Amino acid sequence: MANLKVNIKDVEFKNPVIVTSGVIGYGREYEEFFDLSKLGGLATKGTTLHKRNGNPGKRIVEVPSGLLFSVGLQNPGIDYYIASELPNLLSKGTNILSNIAGNDEAEYCKIVEKLNETDAPIIELNISCPNTSGAPLGTSCEGTERITKIIREMTDKTLIVKLSPNVADIGEIAKAAESSGADAVSLINSIHAMKIDINTRRPFFHNNVGAYSGEAIFPIALRMVWEVANAVNIPILGIGGVTTGEEAIQMIMAGATCVEVGAAIFRNPYAPLQIIDEINAWLDAKGIQDINEIRGVVQPWER
Ligand SMILES: Cc1cc2nc3c(=O)[nH]c(=O)nc-3n(C[C@H](O)[C@H](O)[C@H](O)COP(=O)(O)O)c2cc1C
Repeated sequence: MANLKVNIKDVEFKNPVIVTSGVIGYGREYEEFFDLSKLGGLATKGTTLHKRNGNPGKRIVEVPSGLLFSVGLQNPGIDYYIASELPNLLSKGTNILSNIAGNDEAEYCKIVEKLNETDAPIIELNISCPNTSGAPLGTSCEGTERITKIIREMTDKTLIVKLSPNVADIGEIAKAAESSGADAVSLINSIHAMKIDINTRRPFFHNNVGAYSGEAIFPIALRMVWEVANAVNIPILGIGGVTTGEEAIQMIMAGATCVEVGAAIFRNPYAPLQIIDEINAWLDAKGIQDINEIRGVVQPWER
């Protein structure tokens, strides 16, 4: 069997497959399906300084090749996370990415101050949530630089900055995160999207605009991962519509060190395990001993 171990800074992942933020909360129900220690990692639900009830109205709907959602970061707040969820998560034998979000810099700082008092090894800084009010910091290079620098100065934990696809040039945003001290970038968060109920003439979501995830966004996410791989030297976690081992390998060939899997789990909770098996089978079939050998190997056509 090939080596599937990869590293992000000094954190070792037993395999490159991580369950992405927002699709399994803090893992408690998901744990009923399989032993979480089989995963390379688990990114928690985006956690904010204070408890949030999320958006009113409908929150999720299946659409062709994916899902639209507008959850609005419902979560119990950082104090509850630290007291009641983190200890359980840290006992699961997989890498825990504490995904956090704030309304402004001050909130991010207060959350990180609290996480600094814990053994949480990795922070995934969500500066790209499409379902909260206010322009997220992650849609400009200046905002990305500002928040990444502030948090970098505050913590020695492995810092992953999660990027928005709702920007003109994601490579420039990734560069801003890298030059401000991010250890890695993860991308993409979901894509702004919409649905209208033609009978009521109202947007489906009370927030009017929601977010699109799932299979349909894979080619867009892959293109963005490739662009970011050409722009920065820090590790990349590729996210967006990954459903099969073949797609995970495409992400890795584009330059990703890990992949995060989200919407695919709604259809098949075992998708992350199947992806790990499919990566393994492909590497074995090709006689490749180590997954690290295929990272970034895509050979672009001369143009
Ligand atoms: C229901 C739902 C909730 C999500 N909540 C969060 C969140 O709290 N924080 C975050 O960074 N991303 C969140 N995301 C975005 C995912 O982590 C991921 O970036 C996106 O869905 C694309 O991956 P996928 O197509 O594999 O789902 C959420 C996605 C879904 C579907």
